[in-house]
Parts: sequence; structure tokens; C-alpha cells
Amino acid sequence: MSDTFTFFATCPKGVEEILYQELIGLRARKPKQTKAGVHFKGTLETAYRVCLWSRLANRILMPLEHFMAGTPDDLYNRVRSLVNWHDHMETDGTLAVDFTADRSNRFHSHYAALRVKDAIVDQFNERFGKRPSIDTSKPDIRVNVHMKQDRATISLDLSGDSLHKRGYRVEGGSAPLKENLAAAILIRAGWPDIAKKGGTLLDPMCGSGTLLLEAAMMAFDIAPGLGRKCLGLLKWKQHDQVVWQNLVNEAIEREERGTEGKNVLFFGFDADKQIITQAESNASRAGLLEFIQFNCRDLDTLKAPGISESGLVIVNPPYGKRMGEKEALESLYRCLGERLKECFSGWQASVFTADPESRYMNKISPGRILSEQKRTPNG
Ligand SMILES: C[S@@+](CC[C@H](N)C(=O)[O-])C[C@H]1O[C@@H](n2cnc3c(N)ncnc32)[C@H](O)[C@@H]1O
Repeated sequence: MSDTFTFFATCPKGVEEILYQELIGLRARKPKQTKAGVHFKGTLETAYRVCLWSRLANRILMPLEHFMAGTPDDLYNRVRSLVNWHDHMETDGTLAVDFTADRSNRFHSHYAALRVKDAIVDQFNERFGKRPSIDTSKPDIRVNVHMKQDRATISLDLSGDSLHKRGYRVEGGSAPLKENLAAAILIRAGWPDIAKKGGTLLDPMCGSGTLLLEAAMMAFDIAPGLGRKCLGLLKWKQHDQVVWQNLVNEAIEREERGTEGKNVLFFGFDADKQIITQAESNASRAGLLEFIQFNCRDLDTLKAPGISESGLVIVNPPYGKRMGEKEALESLYRCLGERLKECFSGWQASVFTADPESRYMNKISPGRILSEQKRTPNG
């Protein structure tokens, strides 16, 4: 268990720097930032801790082999000969293959993934006369192939499904933020420090409640991976259940301590009654409903909650391309600026806009805005 391995944590573009800091906090060694991810070193326990606690990563990959492959047939031959796949999965297990590549790669991604899958099942057939089956949604083992020019990296995906799927959100409003992007927005807005001082958080256009739920999990020291039912590492043949269970037990204790004696600290409003019902169901699934006060309320009636003189207003307003008409948004942003100015003296505010030109931001009084964040292209 004390062997050291190299891992790669993938993340949305633009989140690398804060993922790097998060990994240091999770005791990852020698983190190294690159585009859309961070390499790090550590034991299996380190990787398990990152799978359980990372609020920002999408996937935790464990590279098995690197090699040059100029054609899909090269890829097939190397994957079949270089890795002993029976070390990682049982003959009667299930398998999925993901293929990603940088722009310089010429392979057709679907065909390349198929060749890698063929290589693995052909190795099993040759050795045991039997082969694993394919399950693209909930496989026992997910294999990741990444090509950078002609260099291939074959990895095991320890996360299985993307880590942004915490398990609390079945219903997602009409333009929900991904959970790890919401966590990144909160970190950039300085929420972890405000939370340490017992601050309040309010989202006046909360949609499905993603920002509120991620904020509450940070404030209460709740591991984002605790609610996930399936993780890639659990079905891996070399999985160490004792190490995993110790980490889970510790996370449960931390959650109990984190929520003990806490009252309502979070406020979520939205003009759409149906979305508020969805947000309540999501909060209930996350076990956080008792700490969040949801109300169906239009922005133009927004006031600061009486319980707190300071805190963070965080908001991801609708934007032209995905919801509503651009013209209507100008008055919405103006209203937001006015409400912040009139009712939230002493508070901090952060507005996350997906509009690349951010043409409405000048409708909000700049003096009141702690940070104006823009969505990255793949956010
Ligand atoms: C981009 S969505 C927010 C998504 C949310 N961050 C999530 O992850 O689900 C914007 C939300 O603003 C709400 N909204 C639009 N106009 C509003 C208004 N005038 N007052 C309050 N909420 C409004 C919409 O109903 C929608 O849920």
C-alpha cells in the first residue's frame, strides 16, 4: 500500500490552478499543472482520498502504460501485449473504453476506442477462452486512452463516472451548473474563508440549488464523494477495501462534526416555483434541506435575510444563448445591481456569467461586485 504511483486528475479548463491547490491540501505529492488537469504522485490511499474529497476534479486516472502508436493497429497491438488485463479485472467482468485526444491526433475516436476494447477482450479470449462484456454506463472497469500526437497513455479510471456527479442531483433545472464548476466558482469567490467565519450564503436565482449545495458541503466539511454509489476503484481487482473504508469512516465522522449544532445559513430563491421544488428535492437527497431556506421569489423583491449582516451573494443569472431573450436580460441585470446596492451593504457578491462578452455586467454597480466570473468554454 505504500508504493508510490503517478496519477492524473482531469478538470474543466480554467480550474487547473485551484485543483492544484486542492490536491496539495489532499496530501498529493509533486502536483504538476497541465491543460485541463493536474498530474500528481502518491500512494493508492492518496488517490482514494482525492476520489472521495476532490470538489474540482472530473476523473482520477491511473496511467498503466505510455507508448507511441502511429495507427489504430499499433494501438491495438500495444494494448494487447503491454498490459496484463487480468491483473485489473475478472474474465466475467464488464468493461468500457473512453478515448480522448488532443487536436494533433488523427485517429477517429470511436474507432480507436473500439480497437482498444478489441485488444483487451482478445487478450482474455486468447488466455482464458472467455472474455469480459461491454457496459458503457456502469462498467466494472473503465479504461481511458489519451493520445497526444502519436503518444498514447492507457489509464484506469478510478473515478468510474465523472466525479462531478455527486449523487444528489437527479433533477437539474433548465441550465444547471456542473457541480465541480459550482465548487470552483465558490472557491474563486472566497466562500471557504467566509464560511470559516460563520458567514451566510444567498443565491437569488438558485435554479436546482447547485451553488447552495456545494457551498453547504464546503462549510460543513462534507466529502463530495460520500453520496456516490459507484466509483471505478470499487470493482478494480487490486482495490484495497480496508483503506477505502477507513477514509469513508473518517469522512462520515467529519460530516457529523461539521453539521453538529448548525442552523440555517443558506438561502435560495428563484422565480420558478417548479425549480424551487426540484432544488428542495436535491437538498433533501444531499441531507442538507434543514440548513437551506428555499423560497419562490422574484429578484425584484430580493432582501437580505434578517439573521445576518454579512455574507456572500452568489448568482448565476440566466444568459441569452440558453435561456430567455438577450434584451430581457438587461433589465434583469440592472435589477440585480439595484437590489445588491440597496439591501446588501456589508455583503460580498459574485456573479458568474456565461456570456463571453459579459455585455450586461455594466448594469450592475461594480463597487458591489467582489468577483465577476466567466464560464470557460467547456464549463
Ligand atoms: C442559469 S439558471 C441558474 C442555474 C443554477 N445555478 C443551477 O445550477 O441550477 C438561472 C435561474 O434564474 C431564474 N430566474 C430568471 N429570472 C428570474 C427572476 N426575475 N427572479 C428570480 N429568478 C429568476 C431562472 O428560473 C433560473 O432557474
